[in-house]
Amino acid sequence: MSITILGIESSCDDTSASVLRDGVIHSNITATQTVHMAYGGVVPELASRAHQQNIIPVVDLALKEANVTADDIDAVAFTRGPGLLGSLMVGTSFAKGFALSKNIPLIEVNHLKAHILAHFIDDLKNTYDHPNFPFLALLVSGGNSQIIIVKDHMDMEVIGETIDDAAGEAFDKCAKVMGIPYPGGPVIDKRSKEGNPLAFEFSRPKIQGLNYSFSGLKTSFLYFLRDRVKENPNFIEENMNDLCASLQYTIVDVLMNKVKRAVRETGIKEVAIAGGVSANSGLQNAMKEAAVKLGWKVYIPQLGYSLDNAAMIAITGYFKYLKKDFVEQDTAPFARMTIK
Ligand code: KG4
Repeated sequence: MSITILGIESSCDDTSASVLRDGVIHSNITATQTVHMAYGGVVPELASRAHQQNIIPVVDLALKEANVTADDIDAVAFTRGPGLLGSLMVGTSFAKGFALSKNIPLIEVNHLKAHILAHFIDDLKNTYDHPNFPFLALLVSGGNSQIIIVKDHMDMEVIGETIDDAAGEAFDKCAKVMGIPYPGGPVIDKRSKEGNPLAFEFSRPKIQGLNYSFSGLKTSFLYFLRDRVKENPNFIEENMNDLCASLQYTIVDVLMNKVKRAVRETGIKEVAIAGGVSANSGLQNAMKEAAVKLGWKVYIPQLGYSLDNAAMIAITGYFKYLKKDFVEQDTAPFARMTIK
């Protein structure tokens, strides 16, 4: 018997809905909110209002594109957290209402685990190579930088994480200092391609073990620019590509050094990257280089499944559906949720 899951994602500033049938994505529709650009970051209240406006048209389109109706859905999976509470409430309330009206099971999904399980997605166009358990995951997004041992679809152990800023935050905050609008990560990536990664050197964190720290790098970048701009007010514009390339090189190097250490310590050589920053071309190239030089098997998500999306919620929901891991109507969203 075929199983059809509707996935709903609304944790931050993307409203997304996806239909998955028997592990295969049939649609994945995302409305990205542009209202935050003027503010240099996501404004929570504006995000929840935009989710309210977007959720019904986005779900409608996802059903249409998958060629199904609401009656064909066997269960609804939704992001319970972590994220912005107001945003999560919109997706959670919608999912509950949908499940109640169709009398079908409701499945809660941890957004962080879903980013990792996006590696198990297949879609109508492609069947992808899926990681074998146990594998290591580097989860890098706007809110997280973690190294995780993935033992099973649901059994994950965090072995390293940031003690302050996330890698995505480092990209976005440094971009802001250079006058690049939020989110600056993709712009830094683009400008890096035209710049010299060794033009400037920034301080690197000296953190023990497998943990990360990015706040020192951000501060060193800020002070570096402040001093240079005093000497030459056009310094940023004149050196934008080199600044982006050098910053990206440093962030990627910091990320990769700990992943290499994690591989040495665990002996696990299958490594997947996940989360918004996994779209970064510098990180993807460094992973591919490690695959060749160090004999790793690496997994890089498709762009549509690396940024926030409902396809990853639907696939996680599918694994939970198979285990009959359902929740009740009184389930509330959580702003803070960890992998464990
Ligand atoms: O996973 P995600 O879509 O949202 C959450 O944080 O949950 O990640 C967003 C983050 C932002 O910090 C954004 O700047 C970063 O991912 N990002 C990138 C790139 N694409 C997205 N950072 C560097 N290079 C990119 N190509």
